[in-house]
Amino acid sequence: MITTRPRTGAVLLAAIALSLTGCDSSLDVPHLALTKSFTRALQDCMEYLQVPGYRYVEYASNNYPDDPETKCLLRCVGLNLRWWNDTTGIQSAVMERFFHPDEADAEFENRTAQCLEQDPANSTDLSDCCGLAYRSFRCYLQYYGNLIPCALFYPEDDSRYVQAAQDCIEYLQIPEKLLKSYAAGSFPDAPETRCLLRCFFLRTGVFHTETGFDVDRLYTRDYEHPDERYLSEETQAKLDKLRGALGDQCTEVYLAYRDVLGKLGRSYLEYDVLQAAARLALGVVVQQEPSTTTTACPEISEFNYKELNCQKCGQMFLAPTGRLSCPKCMKNSSSFSKYFF
Ligand SMILES: *[C@@H]1O[C@H](CO)[C@@H](O)[C@H](O)[C@H]1NC(C)=O
Ligand SMILES: *[C@@H]1O[C@H](CO)[C@@H](O)[C@H](O)[C@H]1NC(C)=O
Ligand SMILES: *[C@@H]1O[C@H](CO)[C@@H](O)[C@H](O)[C@H]1NC(C)=O
Ligand SMILES: *[C@@H]1O[C@H](CO)[C@@H](O)[C@H](O)[C@H]1NC(C)=O
Repeated sequence: MITTRPRTGAVLLAAIALSLTGCDSSLDVPHLALTKSFTRALQDCMEYLQVPGYRYVEYASNNYPDDPETKCLLRCVGLNLRWWNDTTGIQSAVMERFFHPDEADAEFENRTAQCLEQDPANSTDLSDCCGLAYRSFRCYLQYYGNLIPCALFYPEDDSRYVQAAQDCIEYLQIPEKLLKSYAAGSFPDAPETRCLLRCFFLRTGVFHTETGFDVDRLYTRDYEHPDERYLSEETQAKLDKLRGALGDQCTEVYLAYRDVLGKLGRSYLEYDVLQAAARLALGVVVQQEPSTTTTACPEISEFNYKELNCQKCGQMFLAPTGRLSCPKCMKNSSSFSKYFF
């Protein structure tokens, strides 16, 4: 009952947005994070694998018969949502999120684990990935809980993290000098580095400006090294202590990363990602800009990108290469706090 009010509110807001703008606001996805429901993934895969539409009725009533078509459909759903990997099998840190355990059931985890551990060699050929994925799914469906109908956050593959980092490098106009450091695997503590990390966490959907780090999402994101410490009260307490205490969010994120989160899960994943992104960014600069376009915009060593973009670079022009550059760039020292807005 408690949940009906906010939901009604959200639906109402969505309806208002739709009637005012003619747009479906549910399609207006923030940042670059992936969210999808189990049902949506199932429908995707029915399209990819050309499973006839009439079969959806069975699946929608949680009836997943033991036939080759259904088995491979579930493998596809698992790959789609990243709870399945043909080499390493079921990814429980992702899969668990799609099921809601019965509150009265104290043994859902043990019984699911038991089901998964049952010797698969007997019933299923180990080279039959569809069969194995299907079997694992059935264990969760039978023993873990009810499928959650909502769209949920699920992990990206690393190439998308690199893309998100590269996007942030562009948005924040990270100076080449720093990119060279990152590319060499060194991450100097500069305001740019702090804000780049903040942008990266925002863009990948694991940090929100209003509510801070989303540790549930971080846990899911690092599904290959599930780390319960993400979910501990101690971690939350440390994050809460940093939250808002510093006045600027770039520094908050940086310290949270350096002192609390960086070592968890896939430890210091971000540095590897930033290194790869910086290399790509530098490579693009070298390849695409052999001549003149950047000369108008000298290296920005003192940067304040709000002012930079709003005032000095208000007259950005589009170079023939398609790259935006600034006719004039401001060089002025600004106090640390001025970097943030
Ligand atoms: C499956 O896991 C292996 C080993 O960790 C990894 O190399 C591979 O990229 C994964 N495949 C997918 C599709 O994620
Ligand atoms: C689940 O299994 C673990 C170890 O196998 C055991 O210690 C624990 O008591 C079990 N929990 C329940 C609720 O049976
Ligand atoms: C396992 O497989 C063997 C041979 O395929 C069969 O004889 C046996 O009954 C099976 N055991 C179970 C528990 O299904
Ligand atoms: C540089 O900063 C100083 C003090 O912050 C300010 O007085 C001055 O106007 C600034 N110069 C430019 C070009 O913005």
